[in-house]
Amino acid sequence: MRTPLIAGNWKMFKSVADTVRYVKEFRGLVKDVTGVEIVVAPPFTAVHAAAEALRNSNVGVAAQDLYWEREGAFTGEISGAMIREAGAEYVIIGHSERRTLFGETDDAVNRKAQAAIAAGLIPIVCIGETLDQRDRNETFDVLDRQIKQGLDGLTGQQIPELVIAYEPVWAIGTGRNATPAQAQEAHAHIRKRLVQWFGAEAAELCHVIYGGSVKPENARDLVSQPDVDGALVGGASLDVRAFQEIISRSRTAAVGGPV
Ligand code: PGA
Repeated sequence: MRTPLIAGNWKMFKSVADTVRYVKEFRGLVKDVTGVEIVVAPPFTAVHAAAEALRNSNVGVAAQDLYWEREGAFTGEISGAMIREAGAEYVIIGHSERRTLFGETDDAVNRKAQAAIAAGLIPIVCIGETLDQRDRNETFDVLDRQIKQGLDGLTGQQIPELVIAYEPVWAIGTGRNATPAQAQEAHAHIRKRLVQWFGAEAAELCHVIYGGSVKPENARDLVSQPDVDGALVGGASLDVRAFQEIISRSRTAAVGGPV
């Protein structure tokens, strides 16, 4: 069985001081939670402080992006090794904001995924269709392209260590989440492709999490879908109590019972 993974993507929010305040409270709130993998993704500037404040806790840290070269004359970029050294274990790759606002391509996603794995980081690779693409019935084609190109060259041995986040672009930051049935349909499709391209065992172990307007009110119904293995939470993860509530309801959906 896949342990549900709940990750909070803070985007460009929270100073170092805000981060430390948040994670100190948060680690206490979730310290007894078992059966859920919990991750927070602060901005680069706060990754190290978050990792230090979360040392020996059940909460992991993610960066929100990386560059694929190890080091060099790449002003403004951060390598996987640097992120790892700062204390993160995960890295978000190919978020739709990076694709639409910063021109990130499937080829760049692929290089970043490879570099993350080489640096010992767990990539959280984001995929998902726009509203136009959904309306034109292109959702599965878009997902197929993003998976095929984004994960090109990865082996069946590497896929279990990878997280795919299905984030329909129309659901991100809009308050309009995919229905549990829409999420399940997309996740089942993604799993089918993973079986086809990487083998049944790899597909069975790979986490496919949902993102897009996840809130305490809808987390349980989304995460209880058979192919929804957790959530990537943006806005609602900025509030420590709301994020804790999402984790606790997701756990109930996946495992049953209170904490
Ligand atoms: P949201 O963002 O929860 O605010 O919709 C999700 C994401 O961008 O990962």
